[in-house]
Amino acid sequence: MKILSIETSCDETAIAIVSGEDKPKVELNLVSSQIELHKITNGIVPEVAARAQLEAIIPMIAEAKAAGASAATIDAIAVTYTPGLIGSLIVGVEAAKTLGALWQKPVYGIHHLEGHIYAAFSEINSDEVEFPVLALVVSGGHTELILMEDHFKYQIIGSTRDDAAGEAFDKIARLLGLGYPGGPEISKAAALYQDRQAAYPEQTLNFPRPMINDKSLDFSFSGLKTAVLYKLPEKKLSNEEINHYAYEAELAIIDVLVAKTTQALEQTAAATLVVAGGVSANEQLRKRMKQLGEDNSIKVIIPNIAHTTDNAAMIGLAAWHRNNVKAPLVKNFEAKPRTKLDEISLG
Ligand code: KG4
Ligand code: ZN
Repeated sequence: MKILSIETSCDETAIAIVSGEDKPKVELNLVSSQIELHKITNGIVPEVAARAQLEAIIPMIAEAKAAGASAATIDAIAVTYTPGLIGSLIVGVEAAKTLGALWQKPVYGIHHLEGHIYAAFSEINSDEVEFPVLALVVSGGHTELILMEDHFKYQIIGSTRDDAAGEAFDKIARLLGLGYPGGPEISKAAALYQDRQAAYPEQTLNFPRPMINDKSLDFSFSGLKTAVLYKLPEKKLSNEEINHYAYEAELAIIDVLVAKTTQALEQTAAATLVVAGGVSANEQLRKRMKQLGEDNSIKVIIPNIAHTTDNAAMIGLAAWHRNNVKAPLVKNFEAKPRTKLDEISLG
């Protein structure tokens, strides 16, 4: 089974090839990012993102063809159809349907968050996944704890009540005058403060950890952003102060993510913890989650960095596993801005 996959739900135009008989293997993973464009506005303008998708999609398909994708080599096409920015989604969906019609191949619609989760299941057969799986999906648009009793059976047991974790990184970075996207920028600045933090642990900004003691598995990050805003002095922050704010903001976000995941592990009999989505590229989060797995004797799978932020390999991996376990594949679909993951579990 060789799948050509396309992902255009936000500001990345991505195309991949996933193949393999016993295990899915990512043969090609191309991503054309619009980061430089969105740096100008310090965030995404949906109309601008959609136009950039249109400009990039044909050259990306040409690159995939140059890498060997053709009607003769590809068995099926998979594409993100929901959720995301509607103008961006339409570009990928229509491109996939056009290729499918030209090459006479089936075209499958994949949910973006299913893609993020299945990015964790590269190079393993579907029956090697140990259930129940607890998945923490942390991205620019989502912060969700999802319990899976089996492949493609999703139960959302926690989600954010306001900002997503990635959104918190992005908004706090903006407050600190750091660039876009905020996650990697905060991370870089925070790393520069690490030694000083070790030397002066008492110099704390006391940022809150919203909902950390709440019994529910829900998250809230907007209060943290406001707390950072209120802590900003009148005068401009020095570079070292920026690094300090970044360090403590990153720590506060990660503390909440780890605490809620720990709570979720206590409430479920999860055998595997998956941490996925753009924020799972964060080194400190990866370290803490691996440690959490060790402490609880549970297997932790975090996709390799290239498969954490938006990419098409994850969409191909989801389609590969759906095909492999004979789960329903969504064949009649249109681009849709919003669909909850548990609304598509029956295909
Ligand atoms: O999954 P993704 O590429 O797009 C969405 O589906 O939203 O996630 C993008 C988010 C952005 O908010 C970005 O700031 C965050 O992931 N991100 C990070 C890191 N790399 C990307 N957050 C924290 N640390 C990182 N290293
Ligand atoms: Zn994403």
